[in-house]
Amino acid sequence: MSKHKLIYQIYPTAIGTLRDIADKIPLIAKLDVDYIWLSPIFLSPWVDGGYDVADYRKIDPRFGNMVDFRHLVSVCDKYNIGVLLDLVLNHTSSEHEWFKASEKHDPWYKDYYVWRDKPLNWNSFFGGPAFDYDQIRGKYYLHLYDKTQPDLNFYNPRVVKEFKNIIHFWSSRGVAGFRVDSANILADSAFKPGYLPRIAGFFNYYQTTQTVDILEKLFSNEKIFTVAEPVGGDFMSKAKFRELTRKAFDASFNIGTLDAADTIFSMKDKIQKIHYKHWFKKLAKWTPEKKFSMALETHDTPRAVSRFDTDPKVLAMLEFLLPSYNPCIYQGQELGLKNPELSDNIDDYPGVQSRQMYQRLRKEGKTKAQAMRIVKKSSRDNARQPIDWADYVLQDHNPDSVLNFYRKLIKLWREDIVIAEGALRVRKTTNKGVFDFDRVYKGKYYSVHLDFSCKTPSTLKNDLGQTIITTRPS
Ligand code: NOJ
Repeated sequence: MSKHKLIYQIYPTAIGTLRDIADKIPLIAKLDVDYIWLSPIFLSPWVDGGYDVADYRKIDPRFGNMVDFRHLVSVCDKYNIGVLLDLVLNHTSSEHEWFKASEKHDPWYKDYYVWRDKPLNWNSFFGGPAFDYDQIRGKYYLHLYDKTQPDLNFYNPRVVKEFKNIIHFWSSRGVAGFRVDSANILADSAFKPGYLPRIAGFFNYYQTTQTVDILEKLFSNEKIFTVAEPVGGDFMSKAKFRELTRKAFDASFNIGTLDAADTIFSMKDKIQKIHYKHWFKKLAKWTPEKKFSMALETHDTPRAVSRFDTDPKVLAMLEFLLPSYNPCIYQGQELGLKNPELSDNIDDYPGVQSRQMYQRLRKEGKTKAQAMRIVKKSSRDNARQPIDWADYVLQDHNPDSVLNFYRKLIKLWREDIVIAEGALRVRKTTNKGVFDFDRVYKGKYYSVHLDFSCKTPSTLKNDLGQTIITTRPS
């Protein structure tokens, strides 16, 4: 069986109900994707776009019901596409019945979450303290994200068992696997008695060995496809995490492909200059072993075309011409979508991250206009807008469209042995955005010239010097 598996991420609210998504599958299938990954569709109060789950076995009514879900799975089946659900393990919503029982000190549930008599001086991902006081329980609880997202206590075997059952529940309903949210931070060191972090800060939160152990218990015996989302850290720590979790996961994202270029992850306030050379070198160092699932965009990042201010076709070439077994396309990326013109009024933003970023910036003394400028550029809401299907159909029919360029590249990535399996040989990297490399396989080689500044066409040539792909329209 081929190791090449292409993942396509869908942020459901940007498409509609599960029936709406099912209707779009025939079009999406033309990209030849192996899996669709649905961002959360479970019952949720929607504080963090569904990443705050109130019931892991119920479909949120905004998307439909279990019958609609089965319909989606059966449509995907017809196109040989597996459905991956988003498994949010690290935390639940505070609306989840486990939390409600834990707050009340219910004997079964009292240790489902991370409770402490005294808070630690940690910050949460979204800004502000990571511990909040719970009036009902009379203790502090940990939340690495929003205060409505209490962290689960994975040192408690009951919590692990709950998720084993949830995984079975979905795999017996035709789910092909999971994208595992915040997979590297499950074992929070806060729970260890007497533990005090030396430096307050996110990266000291997790205990890798324990986390790996938990993940293996959850996933290693399942016949499902799993892709991890490790959060925080740099390429190195993500590479290490990938190594340690080979039993638990088939693939692992390295959103560091974005971080390395100082592209924002959601929490960064400043859009910084891209250090191309530095970024290309990191990519060249980590991609040859195909450790990571290549991803240039997610629902957590602004659109890459806007971020890099480049031709979407150059980005497509980067993603599919570097060695990679499990690349991921974020819905709309294949159309070359840019950031939309977002509102100047923070009240119009659905995302908790945008609002908290705004408040933090204001507290730090930024004017309204300054704060909004930053929010508009770096908000996660940039990538969560409805897809224009009329544009999709136009691009479908236009042989020079970004969409058809992606399709061509995906075919090469799958079928051309030099691109599918060839080794990477870097020739040149410049700070102006030129990245030249070869792909070499058993005496054959192809050369790739990428130019993010678009001063020259980006090209893929075979060893006879014939152009196979170019960003210049024919
Ligand atoms: C990572 C998800 O991608 C992000 O959207 C979410 O806010 C956090 N995890 C919390 O679940």
